[in-house]
Amino acid sequence: MAIRRIRTEGEEILRLKCKPVKEVTESIRSLIDDMFETMYASDGVGLAAPQIGILRRIAVIDDTQGNKIALINPVITSFEGEQTCTEGCLSLPGYQGEVVRAKKIHVEAIDLNGKPVSFDAEDFFAVVCQHEIDHLDGVLYKDKAENYRKQEAAQ
Ligand code: NI
Repeated sequence: MAIRRIRTEGEEILRLKCKPVKEVTESIRSLIDDMFETMYASDGVGLAAPQIGILRRIAVIDDTQGNKIALINPVITSFEGEQTCTEGCLSLPGYQGEVVRAKKIHVEAIDLNGKPVSFDAEDFFAVVCQHEIDHLDGVLYKDKAENYRKQEAAQ
């Protein structure tokens, strides 16, 4: 396992569309281990492959509320409702903003063994899924945010 360098705004790879994973190999599983390690080292709740310079449709999530998952080739197949959440991003350090997203989504992906998986996500978990899946298409939360701004100093 290794901590990878997180790309920040201005690095072109964050704006590119990622390619699907054709086969879940040992090197993909090893990449996912590194993604979790890199995310935890930065206290993030999600990390997408382009954020560490890899143009593949892979994201990892641990929302700290019991939802820990690696998503390979994820697709959101339904959106319901609406919620507004204050978001940040490891690639936009020191900033935050409010984004309106679906309250409940259904996600289809493949797992670490290459098997199809699907699940519903609601509330904060759904926010993180939508944020990370956007990264795979070169979309950053700031593109959708209201009041994108520097984070207030910690109280
Ligand atoms: Ni992000």
